[in-house]
Amino acid sequence: MPLSSKQQERIHTLRMKKRQLMLGGGQERIDKQHASGKMTARERLDYLLDRNSFQEFSVFARHRCTYFGMANKEAPSDGVVTGVGTIDGRYVHVASQDFTVFGGSAGEVHCLKIVDAMKASLRTGTPFIFINDSGGARIQEGIEALAGYARVFYANVELSGVVPQISLICGPCAGGAAYSPALTDFIIQTRQAQMFITGPQVIKQVTGEEVTAEELGGAEAQMHYSGVVHFVAENDQHALDICKRLLSFLPANNIEDPPVVPGEYSLEPVFTLDEVIPDDPKQPYDVREVVHGIVDYGDFMEVQSTFAENIVVGFGRIAGRTVGIIANQPRVFAGVLDINSSDKASRFIRFCNAFNIPLVTLVDTPGFLPGVDQEYGGIIRHGAKLLFAYSAATVPKVSVILRKAYGGAYVAMCGRDLGADRVFAWPTAEVAVMGAEGAAEIVFKREIEQAEDKEAARARFTEEYRNTFGTPYVAGEHRIVDDIIEPSQTRIAVARALESLHTKRELRPAKKHGLIPL
Ligand code: HXC
Repeated sequence: MPLSSKQQERIHTLRMKKRQLMLGGGQERIDKQHASGKMTARERLDYLLDRNSFQEFSVFARHRCTYFGMANKEAPSDGVVTGVGTIDGRYVHVASQDFTVFGGSAGEVHCLKIVDAMKASLRTGTPFIFINDSGGARIQEGIEALAGYARVFYANVELSGVVPQISLICGPCAGGAAYSPALTDFIIQTRQAQMFITGPQVIKQVTGEEVTAEELGGAEAQMHYSGVVHFVAENDQHALDICKRLLSFLPANNIEDPPVVPGEYSLEPVFTLDEVIPDDPKQPYDVREVVHGIVDYGDFMEVQSTFAENIVVGFGRIAGRTVGIIANQPRVFAGVLDINSSDKASRFIRFCNAFNIPLVTLVDTPGFLPGVDQEYGGIIRHGAKLLFAYSAATVPKVSVILRKAYGGAYVAMCGRDLGADRVFAWPTAEVAVMGAEGAAEIVFKREIEQAEDKEAARARFTEEYRNTFGTPYVAGEHRIVDDIIEPSQTRIAVARALESLHTKRELRPAKKHGLIPL
């Protein structure tokens, strides 16, 4: 039966209204967005989500502000597109701020829409993705905008540890608005975007320091100096690609296991690993070579690659199952542990533990970094986070001692007594309180002083100490390591250990929460 003219009119009106909504703040502003190298809020979602999978929430939501002539101003979607869709067939909830509508600024309804999507994430146990591109709190809405942001922060904390939360920073993200991403698990920032609490002008007024917005809040700066950002993206598409890849390693929530990639995995010796450690124990090498020799297809997604580079963390798979890798990097400051590397690793460990991702730790560290600035900066407090994070982690924990495992840093890098389920050592491993030179100076101080040839005595005692603790065999005798393996066998040994640990269950006494030294 043909539609009546009334019905046709209703449908036409609906289509017109929807078309208007799709245009956000209008073609002129969309062109401006494109000219500045950015996608629109809807284009980003189109690219991120599987084709035709998106179902939008609160499509006709509108602001309720009447101040400053706002009553008559339209704000399509109230500046944020929210809803649910799939990525590689797996559900995610999303919020994507629309800079073409009042600069993506966040008012009461805008924030309520975001919170609705977040709560849907929580109820359905699916990841939440927030694409930020906003001038911050909507100035015309005043206190309602601030209250809205507070609701988003509160929801961020409710979701924390239950579902993965990923923030993309694809435009401005300034002031208090930066605290929502900061409360999420991963931040991916594009090179076009800037994120800071106080901008260059305010800093100049208050402290007199001159800095450009890029130097202050650019993606590189917020990764390298502050460790706020986890991934730097060349542009919007790259950021969305990073997000999809990251999600491929993660479970949808804290009661699921990470996805298993089915396949036939070769568990053959990797002979290149036999050549990684140089003959000279002081010689650096790139621990990523070891990581690539352990994970499937050498495929490793490094997190915070230019922050605290003396430790390398990231995701890979072993026999199809996701693992979190934490590895000292001897190429940077000899792989020493310091404040930033402790923070970086601890946070990563806690994420993995929350989402059932086993930990593989590769150890080659001479210890904690000595220095007044480290002590005054709280290396005791920050280093303790690492001990806390490893001790509290109940996921399978496999450690491989590659070379140096000295002092407190040996313990902190998931030594046997910090709960490692399996510890392997390479023949080059040295498990000792400190390096042989330093140890001989202290233990044999008197003998060296009294010797006629002090240099010869020093060399002899150093050698004696090295022969005792400069190999992994004493650690083996004391069951601190389970097995000493040829480097080429590492992938096989770790894969077998993880396979047998897959059913690990470890119960701890019930408590509200532990008190990690923040
Ligand atoms: C309302 C805003 C806005 C805001 C931008 N716009 N920010 N409207 N509230 N916060 C509007 C502009 O009026 C403009 O509208 C459009 O968005 C685009 O802005 P432009 O300035 O033309 O764009 P651009 O030159 O790219 O500059 C973007 C910007 C700048 C850097 C974000 O707009 C800016 O500095 N905005 C103010 C940022 C700010 O101070 N926000 C409050 C932060 S405090 P038209 O109609 O011309 O297109 C905060 C507190 C949160 O967020 C606290 C939580 C606890």
